[in-house]
Amino acid sequence: MEAYSIFGGKPLSGEASAFGAKNAVLPLLAASVLLKEPVRLTGCPDLADVRNMLKLLESLGCRTAREGMDLTIEAGGAQEHVMPESLSKQMRSSIFMLGPVLSRFGRADFTYPGGCEIGLRPIDLHLQGLRALGAQIEEKHGHIICQGKLRGAAIHMDYPSVGATENVMMAAVCASGDTVIHNAAREPEIVDLANFLNTCGAKVRGAGTGTIIIQGGAKLHGCSYAPLTDRICAGTLLVAGAATKGDVYVRDARAQDMQALLAKLKEAGCGITVYSEGIRVRMSRRLKAVRRLETAPFPGFPTDMQAQMMALLTLAKGTSVVAENVFENRMSHAAELTRMGADIQVSGRIAVVRGVEMLTGARVTTRDLRAGAALCVAALAAQGESVIENISLIDRGHDHLERTLSALGGQIKRIELNE
Ligand code: EPZ
Repeated sequence: MEAYSIFGGKPLSGEASAFGAKNAVLPLLAASVLLKEPVRLTGCPDLADVRNMLKLLESLGCRTAREGMDLTIEAGGAQEHVMPESLSKQMRSSIFMLGPVLSRFGRADFTYPGGCEIGLRPIDLHLQGLRALGAQIEEKHGHIICQGKLRGAAIHMDYPSVGATENVMMAAVCASGDTVIHNAAREPEIVDLANFLNTCGAKVRGAGTGTIIIQGGAKLHGCSYAPLTDRICAGTLLVAGAATKGDVYVRDARAQDMQALLAKLKEAGCGITVYSEGIRVRMSRRLKAVRRLETAPFPGFPTDMQAQMMALLTLAKGTSVVAENVFENRMSHAAELTRMGADIQVSGRIAVVRGVEMLTGARVTTRDLRAGAALCVAALAAQGESVIENISLIDRGHDHLERTLSALGGQIKRIELNE
């Protein structure tokens, strides 16, 4: 099994870049099924989740290719509406394909994507939205069998689910008649999907607000598109810079997408400078605790940065309270941080983090992508060596994170552990 060996205690400094966001590229890949002409996505890092999504597209008959950071998808030849069980179980994001496949072929036969470490990950809001658009959906034996000609509708999301909003957007652009989504998710990745669809000839308005209006009957054409940069990877690098009392500049980080995180970093005493082309963090003294950190749908504090921020706060002066309001089981990193000397009490979705002067390196394991990134942050700040197991989960959302951190002066290398 691959692992990271990290010797901490050295401040990170220098410049890194933010690239195409995993959580923008995945829905854009799903949306390419709507198009009979080729799509080119530029600036896409080579992530495990992106590779798996390309496999899903190929299983439907699409042709895909990677040239460096650019992806090309040709869905003109796609004719399959059945998503292979093996692939859809392996890739939760297969559910993003339901709307586009149903819109393109009038039917879709998928299997329930599994839950994961951070929660059950139900898809009721996805199915509720597609049913509102006229899909007949039968759920049996773990399969989701959909069919029907889609027509526009007024839809109210019980919860502003990112994936469900994206699924409905993709299903609605070619439906007959207009669609309005109320209580829609407002994440930057929703705006990016709307921009992509509009570049392909759709008419989607209001993305980024709670009400999205989609004109149906779009005649879509291919395009070349640069997905927005990854606010979570950028945020992780800024937090690593702060945790190691360093000086890190992240090029192409989009401050407008990261206001909640930047506000908390400033509250903790970090020096943050926003430039037109990126963001710089500088830290030379001990952090201050933040009284409360509550994750919430955008523009609230992103759940995908909760673990990394907790790692930072373990070293702050004072006590911080962290509440995870989006996923029901996203505190697995707390126990691992405690093995490194952190003082954290977890009760359900609440963690009380009492800052300590120092963390010490330890052998730890990660159970989800963002927890793994958090353990890297802590290990870089800790005294001595840490070994982080299960780093294939980190590869899901980072393209060789060790290279990026090494270039900033981090002492990190990928090693092979005997099982
Ligand atoms: C997206 O997941 C992201 N993944 C997640 O990032 C991110 O944490 C999440 O949005 C919230 O921002 C991708 O974009 C690929 P949701 P998604 O639907 O769409 C509940 C990462 O680390 N819910 O907004 O699945 C759900 O259980 C990943 O990059 C339902 O109840 O998130 C959760 O509690 C992790 N029914 C809450 O809503 C549904 O039908 C938020 O889920 C759908 C969701």
